[in-house]
Amino acid sequence: MITFSPSAAVRRVEEASLRVQQPQSTGDMVSLAMGEPDFDTPEAIRTAAADALHSGYTHYSPLLGDPELRSAVTETVLARSAAASSHNEVLITHGGTGGLAASILAIVSPGDKVVIPDPTYSLYADLVNLAGGQCISVPLQDDLHWDLDALADALVGASLFVFCNPSNPTGIVHSAKELEVLADILHRSDTIVIADEAYSELVYGSEAFVSALDIPALAERTIYCQTFSKSYAMTGWRVGYLTGPREIIAACARVHNTANGSVNSAVQRAALVALTECSGEVAAMRAIYAQRRELMATELAKIPGLDVGVSDGAFYFFPKYSVDLPSVQVVAALRDHGVALRPGGEFGLHGEGHLRLSYAASDYAITEGVARLGRGLAALQ
Ligand SMILES: Cc1ncc(COP(=O)(O)O)c(C=O)c1O
Repeated sequence: MITFSPSAAVRRVEEASLRVQQPQSTGDMVSLAMGEPDFDTPEAIRTAAADALHSGYTHYSPLLGDPELRSAVTETVLARSAAASSHNEVLITHGGTGGLAASILAIVSPGDKVVIPDPTYSLYADLVNLAGGQCISVPLQDDLHWDLDALADALVGASLFVFCNPSNPTGIVHSAKELEVLADILHRSDTIVIADEAYSELVYGSEAFVSALDIPALAERTIYCQTFSKSYAMTGWRVGYLTGPREIIAACARVHNTANGSVNSAVQRAALVALTECSGEVAAMRAIYAQRRELMATELAKIPGLDVGVSDGAFYFFPKYSVDLPSVQVVAALRDHGVALRPGGEFGLHGEGHLRLSYAASDYAITEGVARLGRGLAALQ
């Protein structure tokens, strides 16, 4: 037998990672733990993939991606924002994960300072640790928005700031004002920003969503990371993209091509149809999420001692509970009451005391799951 120990990079990730592998749900478990749409991918997209396979899209694609898909991305990004004129390069990636990995590994050298909000999507810290960077977590305010003064202090000398908007796990949508203050903080610095807008199509408030690309002073230093996974219910297809200034995207492409090679050719043809023909399907799914969000808010409000907060985007609530136990233990106890959720602590130390509930679930799952949450929390009091 050989003796094996994982590489230093893997050990760094394993030692620091807060990601928790939840057991498979069995029996009568109601799951509100999902991070993915429960809809099937729209028919037109599935048909486009099948057609592409039949018409010969079975070879390597160009390394930056399918030219027509890249053009469609450029048009989409430029159509939404004149400020994104610096975004003159597009890299099609292996999902949002591939784009985040390529950009973080392209930007971060060992020892570099990378600022992330806390809590946030747990992949960012894992990737920074893979790159050997130094993760600086900045706690969110009680309302789960950024603490801009703390961010300003932390960002001094940082090579990178990574955030998602709308936020996983909080469901918060950052406003134009917050993005403008961020741009001011970074003025005259060389700090790059990765704006992960995976949930940008899933926004429910009355105000229009403002992208980092809509703020000129931010757009010029931003790598925009997008995925087809959430908006088009395409989590299993593994396709997304990065846009940004040419020299930064060239570095990202170097990592992506080295680690992944080109993205599945037929899938890129399907993504082209998603981007250019499926806004109606996206709107229909958004309308259903919006109803489920209302339902979940109503049901959560019935639970005493739970600070529900708001969910303006994505498909998550991130309520704060009042039981004096770590979130992993609360989640384990709630499983015994028949409901699966995710512990807030998985998304950062300051996510402790919270639970993440997904409303990418049926009305029955939402009603029954939240009722079980209420009974479970009452039993823990
Ligand atoms: C904020 C955020 N970014 C990126 C991703 C990764 O998306 P993909 O499935 O395209 O890799 C996720 C998935 O949960 C996410 O929540």
